[in-house]
Amino acid sequence: MLSSITAATDLISPVLVDHHKKVSFVAATIGKTLGLDEHSLRRLILAAAVHDIGGLSIKTRVQTFEFELTDPDRHTLPGYSLLSGFEPFADLAKIIRFHHVYWQDGQGTMDRGKDVPLLSHLVHLSDRIAVQLAPNREILNQKKDIVQRITTESGEMFVPDQVEAFLEVAGKEVFWLDLVSPSVNTILQQRFPLGGMDLDRGELLDLAEMFRRVIDFRSRFTATHSSGVSAVAVALANHSGFKKDDPDRMKIAGLMHDIGKLVVPPEILEKRQGLTSEDLAIIYKHPYYTAEILRGIEAFDDIGLWGSLHHERLDGTGYPYKKAAEEIPEGARILSVADTFTALMEDRPYRCGVSASSTDRIMRDMAAYHKLDEDFVGLLYENAEEINDKRYEAQTAADQTHRHFLEESRLLDNYLEADDRCPVNR
Ligand SMILES: [Fe+2]
Ligand SMILES: [Fe+2]
Ligand SMILES: [Fe+2]
Repeated sequence: MLSSITAATDLISPVLVDHHKKVSFVAATIGKTLGLDEHSLRRLILAAAVHDIGGLSIKTRVQTFEFELTDPDRHTLPGYSLLSGFEPFADLAKIIRFHHVYWQDGQGTMDRGKDVPLLSHLVHLSDRIAVQLAPNREILNQKKDIVQRITTESGEMFVPDQVEAFLEVAGKEVFWLDLVSPSVNTILQQRFPLGGMDLDRGELLDLAEMFRRVIDFRSRFTATHSSGVSAVAVALANHSGFKKDDPDRMKIAGLMHDIGKLVVPPEILEKRQGLTSEDLAIIYKHPYYTAEILRGIEAFDDIGLWGSLHHERLDGTGYPYKKAAEEIPEGARILSVADTFTALMEDRPYRCGVSASSTDRIMRDMAAYHKLDEDFVGLLYENAEEINDKRYEAQTAADQTHRHFLEESRLLDNYLEADDRCPVNR
């Protein structure tokens, strides 16, 4: 799943094509040469696979192609903050936190009073190897320059032992050919199988919440969205008796339904006016990528299905599958109602939330015109006050979490700076 997430995020920019996969591959190969034990190798590969996850918003965008970054905290701190909330990933968070610290003849074992894991240095080295790849030149002709650049920085930017191991690896053409192969991910997975991860119920919910933050925190306009959708969807499921035996399903589905939005660049999420047809073409892809990212995670089969169908409409006018009526399962209908309701009530870059009475009218019209499921819209309004309160509470709590995230990432100026914020709509 991590690998499909990073594959999706790598789609945002052609510059980033396969960046995370490549860094993982380089790190794994060097790590193996260094003789890392299986546990460390696994942590290394996972950390490398998501190392720039904090660089997905406008304010934290990574200037990937510069060899020396001026302000790496901008993306390493958010990355740390996003992952550290999920206990099983706390140690990955630490590796990511320091993945741009220089070695400086050993001073780099510490950074501002904190221990820097050696694996952070290895991610750094692997990352700086990967950013030098020029897509339009023959790879075997790039080898010499890259090796030279890295060697010059041994001891200063990079750990000498790790550079040594890299040189050993770099001597073989096959390393470079694997690295730029379109199958690099398959090669990585076959050569370094990671196995699965057993999660109990609480951890599964925490994992979903972690992904929710990765999805939502890219923009302040989406920062609380999936929490609201989840709360409304759960309330609708409870009132209708849907999936009574497994109440967490709908909660997770609500948190994850927009995971495909990772393919939408933050510039588009934050546009104040005039979405172009190019922008819309990108936005229309997101439910497709929700399915794509969740594919292959057996435990999330129905969650991926519902999520990928949350923009379908009963009359067949939705997107992208153009399904209609009976082809749209109940879980997806609930999500559509919850998503539409929440989206209307919350702020967009170009407007504050729509009033409760207008939302009411729009929702009822959409049910009457056979866009949204009548029964679920009915349930929503039979329990309007209760459900809206739940949405409000969930979004207010998520707003606090977002604030805390910005604080921890030292991006709080963005929060305060935005004094044109609308209050969470009631
Ligand atoms: Fe980075
Ligand atoms: Fe990177
Ligand atoms: Fe949504």
